[in-house]
Amino acid sequence: MPQHKLQVEAIAHGTVIDHIPAGMGIRILKFFQLSDQDHPITVGLNLRSKHQGKKDIIKVEDTVFDVTQANQLALFAKDATINVIDNYEVVEKYRVTLPDAIDSVLACPNSNCISNEEPVNTKFHISESASGVVLKCHYCEKSFNQRLFNELN
Ligand code: CTP
Ligand code: ZN
Repeated sequence: MPQHKLQVEAIAHGTVIDHIPAGMGIRILKFFQLSDQDHPITVGLNLRSKHQGKKDIIKVEDTVFDVTQANQLALFAKDATINVIDNYEVVEKYRVTLPDAIDSVLACPNSNCISNEEPVNTKFHISESASGVVLKCHYCEKSFNQRLFNELN
């Protein structure tokens, strides 16, 4: 078989977030502040994908996400694959799944919500409807389409 070069260089240790919809890679980087840590990160945008047409990919060296953190990615990339890399080998591979709730990460878009006044940990309950993923604030009980958070954050 001919040797094909990877579109983004392989990493020795860390996590590869693969199969991110094209356009979401930058949002994920910013939203989860991945570049705020000290680890090397390489990013590929608009890469050709066998299954997706185009995809983004994020490689975070020397970092392993716990499953809770990884599943938060499903809000932005529901078909993302998490690959844990050790000594250049994929030692674990799993698809993210949409969590039932998301804690502490998102601010409530409702400016009258108590969570924007008091120092509480935000919490949203997550469900899927015909119009997409819906997040319901634990405090004000208002529901918001996930797309709204994409635009805000
Ligand atoms: N990867 C990497 N560094 C390594 C090993 C793998 O960056 N040392 C990346 C690959 O470039 C790929 C992802 O991790 O984007 C998963 O690797 P692999 O399972 O070998 O690729 P595929 O079989 O194409 O994955 P899938 O079937 O999930 O599409
Ligand atoms: Zn609220």
